[in-house]
Amino acid sequence: MIEKKFGIIGKPLSHSLSPVMHNFWFRKYKISASYSLIEIELNEIEAIIKKIRNGELQGINVTVPYKQAVIPYLDLIVDEAKETLSINTINLNEEGKVVGSNTDVYGLEHGFLCNLGKKNLEKDKILILGAGGVTPSVVYALSKKGFQKIFISNRTIKKAESIKKKFSFIEIINWDNIEEEVKNMDVIINATSLGLKNGDDFKQDFKGLKDNLVYYDIVYNPEETTMIKKLKKKGIKTFNGLEMFVYQGQKSFFLWNKLNPELDDKLKHAILAELR
Ligand code: ATR
Repeated sequence: MIEKKFGIIGKPLSHSLSPVMHNFWFRKYKISASYSLIEIELNEIEAIIKKIRNGELQGINVTVPYKQAVIPYLDLIVDEAKETLSINTINLNEEGKVVGSNTDVYGLEHGFLCNLGKKNLEKDKILILGAGGVTPSVVYALSKKGFQKIFISNRTIKKAESIKKKFSFIEIINWDNIEEEVKNMDVIINATSLGLKNGDDFKQDFKGLKDNLVYYDIVYNPEETTMIKKLKKKGIKTFNGLEMFVYQGQKSFFLWNKLNPELDDKLKHAILAELR
């Protein structure tokens, strides 16, 4: 039997646990396939997409910094990829077209937003920190859910402004003011790479936060970022990005294999074993 090949493109990729998750499912469902890290430069994207077109690769995930950069090489973009212009999953459809999809929005909805049941969609203020590859998916998922007061702040304000061009309803907060502004927020979402294993951390100290604040970190490696640890000590409700990660992976797996893999404890143990 020919082994199918999948992988994730991006740079850097050392922190990605996508291979652990997808290879776990391939073993579990006895699919002859493998999933690997494909660290590439920008100018290699075209060649990788060609491999999908000619059947050398059956599917890829796309991560930073290429979620937009892949678009010119695709034949079709579908589902939430249209609204966000952020692609994280690519495959060849039955008509031989290379299709780009977005499963991050699904991941956010099922891995995080469903935990926000008691929040007031009209009044609650949500601050998104960061304007990188995942931010369009965060903004889109929040607005789809019905949140009306969405703020964004990014060290490089130009990138926040470019997100606002697409989602005019968001408000930009200056990065220098976030220590003040976080005090008014009901939900804070870290969509920067701050806190990532072996990476930089927040220089800001978040004080005077609302008691019922929910802090969500899209980072899942490490399991608890420095910020999560600090806020937990203050009794603030925190979530890491692990659930979003497994849900986006579940939908990618489904798009490639037409099989919806179960999200069970064994999978979480396999991922956590890698993190610890
Ligand atoms: P990209 O921006 O290339 O798509 P990303 O990992 O999706 O990459 O995004 C990284 C995010 O983390 C960006 O919002 C980035 O801010 P800049 O746009 O100013 O670069 C943010 N980030 C990374 N390191 C940071 C730091 N030391 N301080 C503040 N924000 C940082």
